[in-house]
Amino acid sequence: MRTLTTVADLRRHLAERRARGGSALTGSAVALVPTMGALHEGHLSLIRAAAAEADTVVVSVFVNPLQFDDQLDLARYPRDLDHDAELAAAAGAAVLFTPDVREMYPPGFATTISVAGVTDTLEGEHRGRAHFDGVTTVVAKLFAMVGPEMAYFGQKDAQQVAVIRRLVADLNLPILIKVLPTIREPDGLAMSSRNVRLSIVERNRALALPAALAAARECWLAGRRDVGEIIGAAKKVLADRGVQPEYVALVDPHTFAPVWGDTAGVVLLALAAPVGQVRLIDNVLLQRE
Ligand code: PAJ
Repeated sequence: MRTLTTVADLRRHLAERRARGGSALTGSAVALVPTMGALHEGHLSLIRAAAAEADTVVVSVFVNPLQFDDQLDLARYPRDLDHDAELAAAAGAAVLFTPDVREMYPPGFATTISVAGVTDTLEGEHRGRAHFDGVTTVVAKLFAMVGPEMAYFGQKDAQQVAVIRRLVADLNLPILIKVLPTIREPDGLAMSSRNVRLSIVERNRALALPAALAAARECWLAGRRDVGEIIGAAKKVLADRGVQPEYVALVDPHTFAPVWGDTAGVVLLALAAPVGQVRLIDNVLLQRE
């Protein structure tokens, strides 16, 4: 695996690899897995899936200041590049791209990529406009730098997926977006780089999130379709365990518009809640298996 830090080196290296051609199975396809590092099994599942389908897997590690609404969260974001390099290589990455902030945003940088509509609710509403603007700006730049045939994202950040799909469709980017399921700890907590900042007591309280999703799912599977009732089932679990959510919402999984009254078809239950100093998000699709 090559670790590269500049766009020029990245382009040169990818051009060489493409010129060599790939295997009969994957051609010379390049896959991108964008991350902010502190890699865990969630990220690794994306890298492994990419490695199975593409000749060259580029993993980017860039803690993107543009998308942090909370400067303390940015300062405290876990960083461990050496360990990330080991994990990414073992999972099948050919290139680790780790630009610094000046390489990504040189002096004078003044362009924002902003997706409307799907960014209005939930994370967009609670973290502010700048969050998704930061995500779409950096992802659009990474797409332009790497020129991947496909890019891999996790369902853990379901709204991010919907926003990226919108971006790719609206800008006619020839990139296949692949979405993989949320990887969880054995006890159900969704893996997240921020989980390392939870104390033992908080780590235990964080289990209220998957428990709340499970309760809502049970309610839905039992045939209940009233939005208030399904959300109420999730909220009750959170309240019983002393977790105060920022939001618990039922939305359309493509537009992220709230669903009112009775649900029909596939809907997404999404929630966000602070536990200790960590803001956690999780979601479940309500659909027949
Ligand atoms: P990050 O939080 O590092 O996540 C990188 C990718 O891993 C995202 O697509 C995310 O959805 C996925 N992921 C995280 N936890 C996961 C889990 N438990 N199971 C499955 N996939 C998981 O998301 C970002 O970084 C940034 O916003 C980024 C897209 C890199 C832009 O800066």
